[in-house]
Amino acid sequence: MRQEDDNSVLFGNGDELPSNHSSNPHFNQLIETRLARRQVLAGGAALGALAFFGAAVPGISSAAPAAGQPQSTPPFRQRSKLPFSAVAVSRGDDISVPDGYKASPFIPWGTPITGSYPAFLEDASNSAEDQAQQTGMHHDGMHFFPIDAQRGPGRDSEHGLLVLNHEYIDVGLIHPKGPTVVDGKRISAEEVRKEINAHGVSVVEIRRNPQGDWEVLPSARNRRITAATPMQIRGPARGHALLRTRYSPDGTATRGTQNNCANGFTPWGTYLTCEENWAGYFASRDTQLPRELSRYGLRDSSRYGWETLAGDEFERFDATRKAASAEGDYRNEPNHFGWIVEIDPFAPESAPVKRTALGRFAHEGLVFAPVKPGRPVVCYSGDDSQNEYIYKYVSRHKYRPGRSDGSLLDDGTLYVARFDGNGKGKWLALDIHDKHFQRACLAAGVSFADQGEVLINTRLAADIVGATKMDRPEWGAVNPDNGEVYFTLTNNKSRSETDAANPRPANAYGHIIRWRERSWNSAGRRFSWDLFLLAGPENDSVGPNGQPLGADNLLASPDGLWFDPEGRLWIQTDMSGSQLHSGPFGNNQMLVADPASGEMKRFLVGPQGAEVTGISATPDFRTLFVNIQHPGEGSTADKLLSTWPDGPGKRPRSSTLVITREDGRRLL
Ligand code: FEO
Ligand code: CA
Ligand code: CA
Ligand code: CA
Repeated sequence: MRQEDDNSVLFGNGDELPSNHSSNPHFNQLIETRLARRQVLAGGAALGALAFFGAAVPGISSAAPAAGQPQSTPPFRQRSKLPFSAVAVSRGDDISVPDGYKASPFIPWGTPITGSYPAFLEDASNSAEDQAQQTGMHHDGMHFFPIDAQRGPGRDSEHGLLVLNHEYIDVGLIHPKGPTVVDGKRISAEEVRKEINAHGVSVVEIRRNPQGDWEVLPSARNRRITAATPMQIRGPARGHALLRTRYSPDGTATRGTQNNCANGFTPWGTYLTCEENWAGYFASRDTQLPRELSRYGLRDSSRYGWETLAGDEFERFDATRKAASAEGDYRNEPNHFGWIVEIDPFAPESAPVKRTALGRFAHEGLVFAPVKPGRPVVCYSGDDSQNEYIYKYVSRHKYRPGRSDGSLLDDGTLYVARFDGNGKGKWLALDIHDKHFQRACLAAGVSFADQGEVLINTRLAADIVGATKMDRPEWGAVNPDNGEVYFTLTNNKSRSETDAANPRPANAYGHIIRWRERSWNSAGRRFSWDLFLLAGPENDSVGPNGQPLGADNLLASPDGLWFDPEGRLWIQTDMSGSQLHSGPFGNNQMLVADPASGEMKRFLVGPQGAEVTGISATPDFRTLFVNIQHPGEGSTADKLLSTWPDGPGKRPRSSTLVITREDGRRLL
C-alpha cells in the first residue's frame, strides 16, 4: 500500500490516518538523551545512531555475537555471498535484474485459475463472476508450498501451490471506464461485487514444464478467497458480544478478508494472510464511536463506498447503529477485521479461520521464530500504522511435528514490545490474567470484561502497558543462522522530534531494527536490540557495514523482508510520491544484504509506479517468486501511467515475477 498522506475519502490511497493518541513515549524519545552526546562525538546524526550501539553495529560486529559470548575478531576475507553486479537505479517501465538472471511475469491480475477459467479481457470488461475465477488485483505477500508440504515443509521444487494476497484495487483500472458514482454513492452492484472479488487470496497449483517454465495447472486445489468468502472466527474472541452481527448473531462466523498485505506460513503447512488497512472499508455515521472502532481510525465514509449500496452484502460495510441490538445490524462488523486468517491451501473446501489470539490491529505480516519440538511456537507481527507497535505471540501448548495444527494459534499469550534506551527490551503481556497487565489497567482506569475484549482492543491494551511507538512496522524476518529477528520500519511522517536512532524529523526514509531474544529463548520476556540499517540518500544513511549507502544500494521506505536459506536478507521497498519521482532512488526495488559481512547490493528494480513486495522460493533455491504491485498506480483507461507487463497501450497489471538464473543453477 502506498503511503502518501491523502485525506480524500472515496478511492483515497487506503493508508489509515494515525490513530494512536496515547501518551506512550516514542522510540526516539526513549533514547534521545543518551544519544545526544554521541551525535556530537560522531559529528553526524545518522552515524551517531549506529555508533551508539558500539559493538553491535552490523558489519562491524559480524552479526552480533550472542549475549555472553566473546566478540569475534574481524573475519578474514571470505568469498562474497552476493556474487552479482548490482543493478543501477532506474525509472524505466520494466524489470531490471543482474546479468545472468531472468525475470518473467507470471499470473498477472485476471489470470483464469478456476471455475470456467474465463479469459482476461484487456478492456477490463470481465464480470464480477469472472473475477471470482481469476487472480485478484494487487499481488502482495506470497508463499510457495511444495506439493509435498502438507503438514510439513516439503521438498518438491518443480510442483507446488503458490498462494498470494491481493491487497487492494485500483478503481480506475478494474472497470472499463472507472467506477460509476452518483452523488458520492455507488450505484452498480456488479461493479462493487467485482471489486470485492478482486480482493483476498489466490491459491494456484503450478508446475515446471519440460522446458523449465512454470505453468498454472487446472486443478481442484485452485481457489479464490475474496472479501465475501465465509469464514470462521476462533480463539478467545470467538462468540464475543462485540462480534455479534446480523450475519452471525452468535459472533462465530464472518464473510471475507480484505487489505491482505504481507503473510506468514505455519510449520504445519498452512498459509496466513494478514488484514492491514481494513478500517477504511467501513463507515459509521454514529457521533460517538466505541473504543474498538475509534482506536482503529474508523470514519464516517469508506474508501470505496461499498456500504452506499442497498442489500445485506453491501450494508455490512456500514457500521452505523440502526437496530435495537447488535444482532440486527453491522455495528460490530469492523470487529471481524484486523485479524490474521489461516488458510489450508491443500484443503480447498476448508473455511478460512480468523485466529483472534494473535490480536487485532493493522497486521502487516506474521513471521515464526524457528520451531523446536516440545517448545511453544513463537511468532511476531507488526502493526503498520504511524506510531503503532510490534507484537509477539507465544503458544501455550507445545509444538509437535506432524501433529500440531492451527489450534496452537488459539491459546497463548500476546505480548507487545517495549524498546528501552539501553539496547534492551521487554515483551509486555496483554493478558487479563497477568498481574502487571491488571495493574496497568487499574492505573489507566480501563477495564476489559474478558480476554476476548482485550484482543478486540489490542491497540488500547498495548497503549496501557506502555509499548514503544514505532515508525510503521512492516515485514519481519528471522535469520536462520542465529535466530535474530529483523523488522522494517518503513517511515513515519508524523515524527516530530529528532534523535540519533531516528535522526530525521518526519522520518522519510525508514530503517531496519533487529533483536535477539535473551538466552535465545524466543518464548521469554527480554531481548536486546540494535539498528541494522538507516535507509536514505548517501548523505543521510548508514548501511549494514556502518558506512553510508551508495550507488549500489541506496534505498528508502523498506517494506518486504525475507531471509533466504543461506542467511541473506532480501529487502523490498515501497516508496511513493516525490521519493519515487525525484531524487536518487528511482523506482521501487529489491536488495540483498549479507548480515555477516555487511555487504548489500541492489538485485532488482521494478516498473514505474509499482511496489516490490512478496517473496518466496522453491526449496532448491532455483526459482524465486516476487510480486510487482500496482504498476502505474493511479492509472485510468485514458491515462496509463505504466503499461507493464503487457506493453504499449495495455492496462498495467500487478503480477508475480518468476526469477531464475539463465544457467538454471541456484540463484546465489
Ligand atoms: Fe500494505 Fe504495510 O503495507
Ligand atoms: Ca502492499
Ligand atoms: Ca507492505
Ligand atoms: Ca508499505
